[in-house]
Amino acid sequence: MKKTSTEPYVSTYLHSKGRRLGLPIAGNFELTARCNFNCPMCYVHMTDAQLRSCGKQELTAKQWLDIAKAARDKGMVFVLLTGGEPLVRKDFFEIYDGMREMGLLISINSNGSMLKGEILERFLENPPFRFNISLYGGSNETYRNMCGISAYDQVKENIRALRKAGVDVSLNLSITPYNKADLPQIYADAVELDVNVRASSYMYPSVRVNGDQYGCGNRLGCRESARYSVAWDLLRFTPEEFEKRAEAMMKLEAIESDGCPVEAGEGVRCRAGSTSFWMTWDGRMLPCGMMTRPEVNVMELGFDAAWETIRKETEKIKTPGKCVSCRYKDFCGACAAVYFTETGRFDGVPEYVCKRAEEIVEYTRRAYEERKAK
Ligand SMILES: C[S@@+](CC[C@H](N)C(=O)[O-])C[C@H]1O[C@@H](n2cnc3c(N)ncnc32)[C@H](O)[C@@H]1O
Ligand code: SF4
Ligand code: SF4
Repeated sequence: MKKTSTEPYVSTYLHSKGRRLGLPIAGNFELTARCNFNCPMCYVHMTDAQLRSCGKQELTAKQWLDIAKAARDKGMVFVLLTGGEPLVRKDFFEIYDGMREMGLLISINSNGSMLKGEILERFLENPPFRFNISLYGGSNETYRNMCGISAYDQVKENIRALRKAGVDVSLNLSITPYNKADLPQIYADAVELDVNVRASSYMYPSVRVNGDQYGCGNRLGCRESARYSVAWDLLRFTPEEFEKRAEAMMKLEAIESDGCPVEAGEGVRCRAGSTSFWMTWDGRMLPCGMMTRPEVNVMELGFDAAWETIRKETEKIKTPGKCVSCRYKDFCGACAAVYFTETGRFDGVPEYVCKRAEEIVEYTRRAYEERKAK
């Protein structure tokens, strides 16, 4: 499996400069909520019929290009086109070509199933900066169970064609109850395709779809989520890398709390709402696509005012005081979106995530000791 840095240095530099100056360096454009797959854990998903009856509309290609231009004029360099499945839009290339002409560096999140025929040809002529393709299983059967469509062979063939043409592809792997048994095959596929994989067994509660169902999700229980996270580590790391990681984790675990819980939490640590923003398919801006607030309507406010509002509102967010001195804070994966989707509050402690972190340490320790005993 390819092991590369997932971010070019120039991006790190631009984001740190953007943070100082309050610029929107990266935009996530959710072009549609529609998709030809039906993954149970998905945080944004509609059929054509659901979209027709929901009373809302997707932005038009022109509206997306107007927003992209305003964002670029304000500092945006990177764009992620996502969905739903962005390639279900018949006018996808009007948006894509228009953004390329603006000089934007475009990445695309896709389930990979439609990257064939004329669509593939067009991408081979004008490839994006990067494709992030989700691989949902290691067989057609897993795809049928998880996504409602037996697309495994097709997706692999499409990725092979992109790789053969030298297009930069990275895989996203969401580990769920439906594909947990396929990790060895998925790893073997990644090795064969020579691509990097970003895997996660943590699935956010999809509160954008399920209203106020905070903490609920079609996902693994926290113990199983930890177990499969470690199972993936055992596949992807060499024995030496795994040992080093295990030893670092066990050291962290040995740190005693000083017994003085901090009252005030920190602000948002990631780029959401400070140098990046999320545009929903119907024209609302959020700091991050997993959240439902803070939110503003870009079509009413205009891009610049929307960005300033999101920035200011994000600055007000405070995360839990308990996390400030927690020994697991650098690897539990908690962020503002996790706190919000797990508890309905930005300062709520996400029990599922805390328990999962403890279990990850425990499974890692057990695997480490088993290896040492051999
Ligand atoms: C929503 S999809 C959109 C792009 C494209 N349809 C795809 O599947 O890659 C983007 C990524 O989000 C992941 N995803 C979906 N629901 C999620 C959730 N509740 N928590 C975390 N990731 C999720 C998907 O597995 C996929 O890798
Ligand atoms: S393929 Fe992507 S957008 Fe479609 S249902 Fe699955 S996660 Fe959601
Ligand atoms: S493990 Fe829990 S308490 Fe500790 S940093 Fe993560 S979310 Fe906060």
